[in-house]
Parts: sequence; C-alpha cells; structure tokens
Amino acid sequence: MPSSFDVRLRVNGRAVALALPAEALLLDVVRDRLGLKGAKRSCDTQVCGACTVLVDGAAVSACTYLAVEADGREVQTVEGLEEDGRLSALQRAFAERGAVQCGFCAAGMLMTARALAADEPAATRESIVRYLRGSLCRCTGYLKIVEAIQAGLGFGAPAARPESRTGALSVVGRSVTRSDALEKVTGRARYVTDLELPGMAHAALLRSPYPHARIVRIDTGRARAVPGVHAVLTGADLTWCDPYHGPAFRDRPMLAIDVARYEGEPVVAVAAIDAAVAACALELVEVEWEELPAVTTLEAALAPGAPLVHTTEPLAGHFADLSSLRPRPGTNVCHQFAYARGDVEAALAGADVVVEDTFTFPRVQHYAMEPHAALAAWDDATGLTVWASTQNPFSVRVELAKMFGAPLGRIRIVVPLVGGGFGSKTYAKLEPVTAALARAAGRPVRLAISAEEAFRTVRRCDTRAAVRLGFRRDGMLLAVDCHADFDVGAYADIGPRIVQKGTYTAAGPYRVAHVRLASTAVYTNTTPGGAFRGFGVPQLAWAVESLVDEAARQLDRDPVELRRQNLLAHGEEFAPGDTPIDGKFEESLSRAAEAIGWTRAVAAGRGRGVAMMLKASIAPSVSEAIVRLHADASVTVLASTVEMGQGARTVLAQIAAEVLAVPLERVTVLLPDTSVTPYDQTTSSSRSTTMVGRAVQEAAGDVADQLLRIAAKALDTPAASLRIDAGAVVHGERHLDYDALLRAHFGMAGGELIGRGVVAPGPTRAPLGGSTPFWEMAAGAAEVSLDVETGAVTVEDYVSVADVGRRINPLSCETQDEGAVLQGLGHTLCEEMVYDGGQLLNGTLLDYRVPRAADVPSRLECHFVENADGPGPFGAKGAGEGSLVPVSPAVGNALARLTGVRFRELPLTPERVWRALRERQARRTP
Ligand code: FES
Ligand code: FES
Repeated sequence: MPSSFDVRLRVNGRAVALALPAEALLLDVVRDRLGLKGAKRSCDTQVCGACTVLVDGAAVSACTYLAVEADGREVQTVEGLEEDGRLSALQRAFAERGAVQCGFCAAGMLMTARALAADEPAATRESIVRYLRGSLCRCTGYLKIVEAIQAGLGFGAPAARPESRTGALSVVGRSVTRSDALEKVTGRARYVTDLELPGMAHAALLRSPYPHARIVRIDTGRARAVPGVHAVLTGADLTWCDPYHGPAFRDRPMLAIDVARYEGEPVVAVAAIDAAVAACALELVEVEWEELPAVTTLEAALAPGAPLVHTTEPLAGHFADLSSLRPRPGTNVCHQFAYARGDVEAALAGADVVVEDTFTFPRVQHYAMEPHAALAAWDDATGLTVWASTQNPFSVRVELAKMFGAPLGRIRIVVPLVGGGFGSKTYAKLEPVTAALARAAGRPVRLAISAEEAFRTVRRCDTRAAVRLGFRRDGMLLAVDCHADFDVGAYADIGPRIVQKGTYTAAGPYRVAHVRLASTAVYTNTTPGGAFRGFGVPQLAWAVESLVDEAARQLDRDPVELRRQNLLAHGEEFAPGDTPIDGKFEESLSRAAEAIGWTRAVAAGRGRGVAMMLKASIAPSVSEAIVRLHADASVTVLASTVEMGQGARTVLAQIAAEVLAVPLERVTVLLPDTSVTPYDQTTSSSRSTTMVGRAVQEAAGDVADQLLRIAAKALDTPAASLRIDAGAVVHGERHLDYDALLRAHFGMAGGELIGRGVVAPGPTRAPLGGSTPFWEMAAGAAEVSLDVETGAVTVEDYVSVADVGRRINPLSCETQDEGAVLQGLGHTLCEEMVYDGGQLLNGTLLDYRVPRAADVPSRLECHFVENADGPGPFGAKGAGEGSLVPVSPAVGNALARLTGVRFRELPLTPERVWRALRERQARRTP
C-alpha cells in the first residue's frame, strides 16, 4: 500500500493536486491544506451537517468522507457560492432573513440548500424540512432557515421584517441585517478553531475511563519519545503553577491530580506537531488506576455515609456574591442556599388547597455547535495571550492570572466569533490547560475538543425539587415551599450561583406572602454542571408551574385566570430590597392565551397548557464601554460583549448610531480583547443589551456632549441651543458636519473624540446582595397531541411572549426566541444525558437527540411585550433566556389536561409517556 495517493480534484472551479494519506478526510483537506475554513467540524459523526460540501453537486459530510474518494471530482465549498463576486440568492436570503446567528451551521446549511436547489428546484416547505434532516442548528429554531431557503430558491414570500413602534428613533427598533452576516454566509467568519499561529502545536487530552478512581501511576515516557511531540503534562507536573480553578470554589484542577472524579475528566495533555501525532502519543500513555466507589445520582450522593467526591474543603473563588459559600462538611453538599419570608407552615396549615409533589429535571448538554477551543501563546515581552471561545474573557483572565502568578495586564484574552454558548462557555474551561501546555511546549498550542468531549466538559445541573403550594379557596396563592437539590457534578463550576439564583425566583411571577426556599448544590461523579440558558430557573419553573396547574384543577379554576389573579403588578415589590417589578406580566399572559386561542374549544385529541417564568439577572455587575468618533465621522465601539450568535454587536452598533445620529454602516463594534476593549463582567444572564448597551449609550452620549461643547464654542452660543442630527451639529438652519467640526477643533484632519460609559450598580440589601438590574419574564402556551399507541407527544402549536421592554433589533429578538423555544422543546421531549454506573451512555450526537427542523411545531410564534419600561437603552431589558423556561411546564400542563396524567419527570419521551398511560390504565382496570 502506498503511504500517500496523488489526488486531483477541482475545488470551487480551481484544479488542485495533492499527495494525501489514504485516511485523510475531505474536511481536513479543505480546511487545513486548502485554507477553506467555511466548512466546520462539530459532531464528527455525520449528524449535524456543519461540514457539508458538495462533491459533483451532491451534499456530503466532509467529516467522514475520504478525500481520496473525491479524486477526479468537482468539490464545492461555501467559499465557492458567490456568483461573479456577488452573494448568491441563497446567501443573501440567509443574511437578510435572520437565518444566521452564531453562524457555525451556516456553511453546511447553505451547501445543503444548494444541493436541494439542484435536486428539487420547486421544493416545498415540507421537502426543505425533510432535506434538512442531516443539518442541525442550535441557535435559530429553523424557521428563518427554511424561510431563507425558500426565498433563496425564488419562491418565498417577501422578507417580512418585524419592526417595533419606535416613534422618533431611526435605527433602534429596526430589523437591520446583522453586521457579521456577510462573513458568516461566505465562510469568511473566523472562530478559534480556524486560527493558526506560526509553529503552533496541536493538543489532545487523555481522559479518565472511570467515574471515580485514584491515579496509582502514570507513565508518559513512550509518549514523550514520539517524534513531533512537544510537551506532555500530567497533574503531577503542574508544580510550577496553581493548577486549580473555578468561579465559586477553586476545586477543579486543569488535569486530574491524584484522583479522577468523573468519566471523561482530563488526565494527561499532549501538544504535538499535529493532531494525529498528539492522538498517537496519548495511546502510548500508561495509567494504572484504582477504582473508587462513585456516586452518580443525587440520591446516592445525599445518602448517609455516601462516598465523598471531594474529601477536603475547596477554596473559595473570586465573586462577591459567592463570598458566603456554605458547604456541609463531611457530605457531598458543596453549597446551601435558603431564603424565607412570612410563616410558611402556618400559611399552609390555613390553606384550603395544598398541592405538593416532587419533580425532576434531567442532565442536558448545551451542544453549542462549535465545541470549546483555545489557542495560547506566551511571549516574554507581553505575557500570555489566549484566543478563546469563552463567554466571559475577564473572568478567564482573573483565573489565569491567579494560576500563573501574573498580573492581569500580562494576561490577554481575545475572543473571536463564538459558535454558540448557551452558558457552556462561561468561566475557564480549556484555557488553563492550553496555557500550561503552551508554556511547557515553548510554542503556541491550540486545543480544540470534539463534541463528544464537550459532553465531558459541562452540562446543565439536573435537579430534584419538592414543592408545596397553598391556595385559599378563592384562588389566592398563600404560600410556596420549595426544596431543591441541584447536581453540580464533579466540580462546582458556577453551580452555587445557579442554585441561589434559580431558587430565589422559584415562586415565579406571583404575589405570595409566605415563602420558604431552600436548595443545595451536590457533588456527584459526573460531568460538572454549569450555566445553561435559564440558569437554574427552568428546573424549578417546571415544578412550580406544573403545580399551579394542579391547583387550578383542584380549585376548579381556569389555569390562565388563576395565574392572572396572583400575578405581581408593575412596580410591585418582589422581595424587600430588590428591584420592583418592571414589566406587565398580565399583558404577556393575555397575549399568550389569546394567540393560542385559549378560550376556543380544543380539538379532539389535543390539549392546551400555559406557563410563566420570572428570572433575575446577575447582580451586582459591571460593564464599561468606549466610543471613538474618528476624524471622518466614522465610529468605533469598544465593548467586551462576546458575539456568540445573539447579535449583540449589531445591537450595540444600533445604539451608538442612534445616539450619535450617524448611519449604522459607519459604526464598527470590536470583538472582545481584554487588552483593548474595556471591562465587562460576562456575556450571559441576558444582560448585554441592558448593561453593555447602557454603557455604549452613555459613551456615545459622552461623545455627543463633547461635540455640542465644541460646536458651542465655535459658534459662541450655549450648547443647550444645539442638537445633533444626521452626522452634524445643528444650530438653527446651520449644519456643522462632525468631520468639519473635528477638523476645526484639532486644527488638522486628525484627532478623535473618545467617550466613556460605565454601568456599575453596586451591592444592595437585596437578598442576593445585589438588586437585579431587570426582571426577565415570559409566558408560553402550547397545544399538543399524543399518539397513544407509542406515547409520542407532538407540540402542534407553541406561542411565546417575552416582555423585553423594547426590541433594539426585532428580527434578532424573534430569531433568538424561536431558538430558545426549540432548545426548551429539546429537554422537554427528548434530551437527556443517560448514565449507567457513572458511564455516560449517550455522549455523542449519534445517541443524544437534539431538535431538528422537523421538530418545529406546525405553528411557532414569538411575540413581544414592548412598553419601553426596562432600564436598558431606550427602555430595553433582557431577552433570550426567558422564552425557553415556560416550554416544559406549558407542554406538561397541556399533556396533563389531555390525558389526566401529571408528569413529574423530563424529558417526556414516548417510552415515559407510554408507561405512565399504561400504569394509569392498569390502576383503572380492576
Ligand atoms: S456532520 Fe460532519 S461535523 Fe457534523
Ligand atoms: S446559527 Fe445555527 S448553530 Fe448557530
């Protein structure tokens, strides 16, 4: 057998000749040999479609397609889609119709659509959905993608761009095309896995095969001897740095030290000349293990005398709101949270109806389509630079500074585009070990893990919640009693804060005098649990909102009316010291009920349900921004919001353009770079539009004030008599263009105005130590049908209503909420990480089912309440998480109303539903 084959192919019309090993994959060839980075690696298992290219016009998964098979054929990638240097109709439609968010799926979707166009030029919506069976998108909810394909094929309805009522506003409230759409539909967008540095080594990790085991011996000698290996690290080698990190507890070593605490924990790291050599070296590492007893469920971890995941008390992390961490020594409880007001026991004793039950929520995977990646390089002059797919570069900087004993100013975190996050990329993940490897290897190192490894990196905390609600006969909610255990897995990550914040709002958007909330964060020998869209709220809303419906049944009340009766009003206190309610829950509920047709008769075989949610954002928190007005009147916004698909950069540009009255296309928003862009706490908690948006608004306002002062001086008139409009300072009939004004001010064509904005609400006496900057709230209504033979639940109609204050970019809001609903349908109907004896059984996309285009309800509508009553710019407040939360309880309530069976466990898989129906049948049959 020859060691390589001569392969000749045409790629995007260009003849290419390569000598390739037989096992070379087409994806690696187009990306690494030809530099065509548009096709992406995500699932690696021919499931997601992110790597799709065309071979002789047919769509193939390049991640599993041997390059030698393409010999003599025509290969087309997304880079070849443009026609005569202009975007193709499909690319234009994707960009304009909101079909692109994080963009990681975009190239694959476009190439699939291109193949469809050749196969079925008159494709219907149904055939498009069918064609997309091998194409996943975790951001959009698919509706906009299907619409874009229809439009790109020339038969879609004209682009219907949602608009807000904006009054005098010109850019804010408009569905502008996102600023990164062009790079994303052309394959030019760059993510960490697309970056390369001269001399860069590739890293790989050896992971623990056991859920809990002592490392008796590691022999890396043979691995180190492999030609092309630059560095091999084990936990024992990390004596020259502090190997532990973690935002709440510093309990997580970058590589297991002495003990591995979950299956998949990194144990050995290798940096080598390429990925193949790194993988080969890892195979030569010998590890001798001594298995230890493992606890892999909440029940087992909380049992008296349970084996301990951690035997020493971990060190506290770096957040003020987590300064009072309360582990329960000698147990697996790493944090306890409690909040109470009133007298719950007395209120429940006096209640006419008490409903109570225990609900569970599963372990689920974020599956951001871009798996985690980091690229690290050390430099004697400037320190450590890490290009990272992270949602909070400044927290990662703090962690790395502490671990490597460096001042913050010598740690630089750069964040290119991120291919989806959903919370998975908050706080340090791969960055510490990548930086350590780069130090050991003496060269830049890139670590890009697979989707399979992402299942072993972070997940949502599974939860068990025991809830009691007490109602008066007239429907008044008297008391909420909730005790929840959150499984944070082997390392705490941000679990303690999830426990606090998720539990704090467990009573939902309701007025209730007597509240007792208690929860624990519990270690188990499983993948660490971390932040995930909704941050602990979906777990408890599933329980509480299901019980509200149960109470309605027992009180013989309409579930919508029972909720309406108890809703907090605008301006009402949620808890002493916290922010008064800043939205109109009543309006959200009514809109959801109306849109689903609540008062209309339900068709036979269908059930309807509603649910609501309330979530606090992170507090206290800080965001800063800088706005620069250049000599030619163009604008640069420096802010550290991570662009992971939510469209934040476009929204920030809209805010700056509105304040400075300049065309949107004159505004550029930089990507985060901790050495360049100013501090921002985190891109999570739905806070960017409100907090960073306000900082940008303030910074742009600072520039506008400077312009007015300069003009006032030049015109010898009070600044109050001036205004800005269309890129000029206006005085009566006179218009002084910004560029002319700057030229006059500086005495030359140079110099710029710099504005600064800082939003820093400090600690308060609110129960969590900081008042939420805003309340995120949403309502959901579902109509479901059921196949009683199989137990399969179909969500036929779903309506989401989110109170967002004001939509800065309505199309972005709509696309995001559609995606949130789809993600909610995932954990409601099919998603669950299944463990057996500590082994994850379904940790690949082949086995772990996420929603596809065919799973989108026949009718999915996302509505918005906009009363401009938020604290963000132009009355905006947070969005993007809320719409996910009501999905499970709305569907569960609909199913309960259809079947009479109350479900307490998610997901509502056909088997689970079928069994419950059978059990009920068995109980009824004597
Ligand atoms: S199908 Fe190839 S990466 Fe998913
Ligand atoms: S836009 Fe499809 S995965 Fe992000």
